[in-house]
Amino acid sequence: MVCLGNICRSPLAEGILKKKVKEAGLKWTIDSAGTNGYHNGEAPHRLSQKVAKLHGIDISDQCSRKFTISDFDVYDKIYVMAGDVFDDLRRLSGKKFQPEKIDFLMNEIYPGENRDVPDPWYGGEEGYHVVFEMMERACVALVEKQVEIRNKK
Ligand code: 4NP
Repeated sequence: MVCLGNICRSPLAEGILKKKVKEAGLKWTIDSAGTNGYHNGEAPHRLSQKVAKLHGIDISDQCSRKFTISDFDVYDKIYVMAGDVFDDLRRLSGKKFQPEKIDFLMNEIYPGENRDVPDPWYGGEEGYHVVFEMMERACVALVEKQVEIRNKK
């Protein structure tokens, strides 16, 4: 799960997906990162932590890190929260860019539309609730799809 700062959106997405995956009995390794590195080493934004907690998810132990090109080797799938994040990944990765591994998280519910999860960084608490709901719906759809695939095997 990748956003700009790895402080607001992607820590929430990581926490939500970990919960849904655990509930579904899937064994995935899930992590999050940011493209700008401005908040390296910091815990998630207090409002991301607050909103997660209201939904029974503890993200307080997460630590912001910058995306590295080796993430393309470690992870099968990379979800970006928005178009500017996709552009950053292309710029950061140079020849190592693997667009086939990347998708927009919101494409899980709006296929092919490349919709952004809006950045709540400059706004108030309401924005964090909005992005939580959006990302939760996408994560539910993502996991349901994989469970269907697993059950067909
Ligand atoms: P995020 O939000 O990408 O959802 O973590 C942001 C947080 C901080 C900054 C940008 C976006 N920043 O530039 O400091």
